Amino acid sequence: MYNQPMLRDDALKGKTIVITGGGTGLGKAMGMYFLTLGANLVITSRKAEVLEKTAAEMEKETGGKVLAVVCDVREYEQVENVLAETLKTFGRVDVLLNNAAGNFISPTERLSANAFSTVIDIVLKGSVNCTLAFGKHWIKEKQSANVLNIVTTYAFTGSGYVVPSACAKGGVLAMTRSLAVEWGKYGIRTNAIAPGPFPTKGAWERLLPGDLAEKFDFKNRVPLKRVGEHQELANLAAFLISDFAGYINGEVISIDGGEWLQGAGQFNGLEAIPDDMWDMFAQMTKSAKGS
Ligand code: HXC
Ligand code: NAP
Repeated sequence: MYNQPMLRDDALKGKTIVITGGGTGLGKAMGMYFLTLGANLVITSRKAEVLEKTAAEMEKETGGKVLAVVCDVREYEQVENVLAETLKTFGRVDVLLNNAAGNFISPTERLSANAFSTVIDIVLKGSVNCTLAFGKHWIKEKQSANVLNIVTTYAFTGSGYVVPSACAKGGVLAMTRSLAVEWGKYGIRTNAIAPGPFPTKGAWERLLPGDLAEKFDFKNRVPLKRVGEHQELANLAAFLISDFAGYINGEVISIDGGEWLQGAGQFNGLEAIPDDMWDMFAQMTKSAKGS
């Protein structure tokens, strides 16, 4: 059930949605679903060939209209160009989905300054560039709109071995909450989703290279004992950007099967204790009553 489309067919009808990093992985999955709900779609990333192929596939599968625009989100002029091309083609823009990201695993002390800032530039500066350009437009046009930012659960907790990404996603979360308040008066909602593990080629190649995917099996870290399905993320994203979520502003929703809380709860490691040992412990703790 959780991997079935959730919203009614016209839930995004008439809306134009821009997805950064929309040619691959989760961006592509969300975009495909938005199209089936009646949206017009703009997908952007650095690779024209990937974008064109995805746009053609999306149009064929859904009958919707997809504009592909090359854009490195680190470059403000390129972001402004996406806005201009979107307006030229669709006449308006209603939603910005900041999904583009760069990431890789490494002990932090092995990183060059450039490696660190490359990830910060894509994730934090890229999301800032897009939000700023689109926000200025909406405020000038007095148009209500919304921004959805894809962060991670380690935006709350931090995480070793992906420190540039953790810093950047933490910054995007701060921007989400800040602008939700500052731009609420313009009718601009700003929200975020923090996904747990949702296997994609882009993330798995960089974060779980070689046999790490087997050794560090994400399923075992998740209380629900499974990874996420792309459609369930798409369902949540579609709801948050739709008018059905019109009163949700400044929220970050985790969709991770309980993964990050499992790491946080002090006694959660007791899962390793077998039933017969629990019987023994019950006797011991009950007899300790009053002592
Ligand atoms: C150490 C590295 C490195 C690595 C690159 N660098 N890869 N350092 N370990 N594995 C260094 C380079 O040596 C260089 O520094 C600097 O980083 C920039 O590298 P470039 O290759 O020139 O950068 P660029 O072409 O801009 O590519 C960006 C990238 C790349 C981030 C490095 O991986 C990329 O394009 N990623 C996009 C897609 C992606 O990452 N998807 C995963 C998102 S998953 P020097 O000093 O040598 O110049 C995610 C969520 C995770 O975010 C949660 C999952 C559960
Ligand atoms: P992905 O397929 O690698 O997606 C990343 C996208 O960002 C790519 O399409 C890439 O396209 C684009 N991109 C990278 N640098 C860019 C730049 N400078 N300018 C414009 N676009 C750029 O990985 P994914 O797993 O779908 O990740 C999507 C989002 O989900 C990311 O924000 C990620 O942090 C988040 N997330 C994923 C997971 C997961 O388990 N998969 C978990 C938590 C959060 P180009 O290379 O063509 O530019």
